[in-house]
Amino acid sequence: MNTAYERMAGRLMVALDYPDAGQASALVRQLTGIPCYMKVGMQLFYAAGPDFVRDLKERGYSVFLDLKMHDIPNTVKGGSHSVTRLGVDMFNVHAAGGLDMMQAAKAGAEAAVAETPGLAMPVIIAVTQLTSTSQAVMNEEIGIPGSVEDAVVRYASLAKEAGLHGVVASSLEVGAIAAACGPDFKTVTPGIRPSGSGAGDQARVLTPGQAMERGSHYLVVGRPITASTDPRQAAEQIIEEMMSV
Ligand code: C5P
Repeated sequence: MNTAYERMAGRLMVALDYPDAGQASALVRQLTGIPCYMKVGMQLFYAAGPDFVRDLKERGYSVFLDLKMHDIPNTVKGGSHSVTRLGVDMFNVHAAGGLDMMQAAKAGAEAAVAETPGLAMPVIIAVTQLTSTSQAVMNEEIGIPGSVEDAVVRYASLAKEAGLHGVVASSLEVGAIAAACGPDFKTVTPGIRPSGSGAGDQARVLTPGQAMERGSHYLVVGRPITASTDPRQAAEQIIEEMMSV
């Protein structure tokens, strides 16, 4: 039976955005004993590859492989098959790839699970609108009309129709996603900034407490931990704030 602390720490996803395995491992060592989820994104995966993911799994971490696949359905099916065989607990694709592409992602994972004894089905989530995208950028540059919330809810509904398990979105949109897709449809929310830390390139940000109040299932936190002078304390403070809600 997990303690309340372990359950809450498991909802914190630490973004290991580093250029090599050495620096990422140093952060992992500093966080030893905190049962958080580890998120491996493109920067680290392109540099350190599957070995780093296997190493995290051997250390007992849940791993979210954040590669945001977006390609023709057959290619995404193959990518999904490969990352599932790697044993990741969660991975993602872009909802903008459409229904067929998202269904192909699910089929690829199911095929890998069917042919590999003991392999569990990963949670597959869809990226909706990046948390770095403002309403103006979405309307004027990307050419999607309407509000960010409407676009996110449309993407989330499509992901649900494809049989995926949830979405990446800003915690600002979690209420609308739950209303459209139900409370069990997972929401993974980056753009988290404890009060006092800089937004960086994120446009739609909330504090850990605000994200919890809005009902986010998982909070993705990168620079407020990785760029902190004391990453361990930064992570512990975030978990404490999450528990206080
Ligand atoms: O450093 P920061 O806390 O802004 O890191 C957020 C992390 O979440 C980054 O790894 C980024 O790639 C990821 N992410 C995001 N927005 C999405 C999906 C993933 O910021 N929609």
